[in-house]
Amino acid sequence: MNGTGLEKLRGVDASAISEAAAVLRRGGVVAFPTETVYGLGADATSQTAVAALFAAKRRPGFNPLIVHVENLRAAQELGRIPENALQLAERFWPGALTLVVPRGPRCSVSLLATAGLDTIALRVPSHPVTAAIIAQAGIPIAAPSANLSGRVSATAASHVHDELGASIDLILDGGTTPLGLESTVLAFESGRAVLLRPGAVPREEIEQVIGPLAASRSRSVKSPGQLDSHYAPRATLRLNAKSLGPDEALLAFGPANTLQKGALASLNLSPAGELREAASNLFAMLRALDAYGTGTIAVMAIPETGLGEAINDRLRRAAAPREPRR
Ligand code: TXA
Ligand code: MG
Repeated sequence: MNGTGLEKLRGVDASAISEAAAVLRRGGVVAFPTETVYGLGADATSQTAVAALFAAKRRPGFNPLIVHVENLRAAQELGRIPENALQLAERFWPGALTLVVPRGPRCSVSLLATAGLDTIALRVPSHPVTAAIIAQAGIPIAAPSANLSGRVSATAASHVHDELGASIDLILDGGTTPLGLESTVLAFESGRAVLLRPGAVPREEIEQVIGPLAASRSRSVKSPGQLDSHYAPRATLRLNAKSLGPDEALLAFGPANTLQKGALASLNLSPAGELREAASNLFAMLRALDAYGTGTIAVMAIPETGLGEAINDRLRRAAAPREPRR
C-alpha cells in the first residue's frame, strides 16, 4: 500500500466490481459508492482487515462500524432484530437506514468492528454498485464513511482519493452519491426505537411506520462517533448567519439574496430552498468553500423539518469546538 493512489482509482464496470469483491475477500480495504456517501469497506468477519480499515481512516477503536449485508435474511444471521425494527427493515431496506440491534448468538462479525459492544449496526444498501460488491464478495462488509476520522464525509471518488488514496487498496469511482448524507441510525432500547443519528431517511417517514421515536435514556447506547466535533472542515463554521463578515465565505440556502452578492466566495445549497438538493450538495460545498482557504464559513439558516434535521445535525457538529489535529 504505497504510491500516490492514482493507480487505485477505477471506473465501475463488471471487472472492477469483481476486483473489489476479490480484494475484500482477501482482507483488503476498498472504497465504493453507496446511495448515501462513499464507504470504506473491509471484511467484517476479519479482525486484521477491520484493523487495517481503522488504521487507514485513523478512527479510534471505540467507535463501532456499520456492517453492510445483502438482505434482511443476512442481517438476521448477525443480529436479533426486534419487531419494530423488522417493520422498518421491511419498509426501508434496501436503503439509507441503519439498525443497531443486539448481536446474535452466531454473529460472525469481528468484535473489533463492533468495538466490543453487545450490539451491531446493520444496513442493506440500495446502490447497485454496493449491492453487487456485497453479493459477489459473499461476506458482511464493515464500512464507515470513506473520510479521515472527524472530517467531512466523501460524496465523490475524488474526495476519497485526496484523503485516503495512499493508504487503501482500491477506489471504485461510481460518480456522485445520490443522497449525499449518511444513513439514519436507530437503536432499540427496551424495545423502543431511539434516533442515534438523523440521516437520509427523515424522522417523519420513520414515525409514520412505528410512531414517535423515544429520547435515548441510556448513555451507553449513544453513537460513539456522534458526540463531539465531526464532519469538520478546516474553516470555522458560523451558523444561522443573517449578515456577513468581511473575510467570511457564505454557504447560502434559498433564493439569491443580498448576502450572497457581498460574499468573497459563496455557494448555494439549494437556490430553490429544497432540502433534498441541499443534502446532496452539503459535503461537497463545505469541501469547496474550505479549499478556498477562508477562515470562516457563514451558513444561512436551514429549516429543521424533514432532511433539515440531519443537515443541521451535520452543520452543528462541523461547527463544534474541536481537538487540535495532528
Ligand atoms: O450512510 C452511512 O451510514 C455510511 C455508508 C458508508 O453506509 N456509513 C457511515 O458510517 O456513515 P460511519 O462509521 O461514518 O458512521 C456510523 C455511525 C457512527 O457514528 C457509529 O458510532 C455508529 O454509527 N454506530 C455503529 N455501530 C454502533 C453501535 N453498535 N451502537 C451505536 N452506534 C453505532
Ligand atoms: Mg463517518
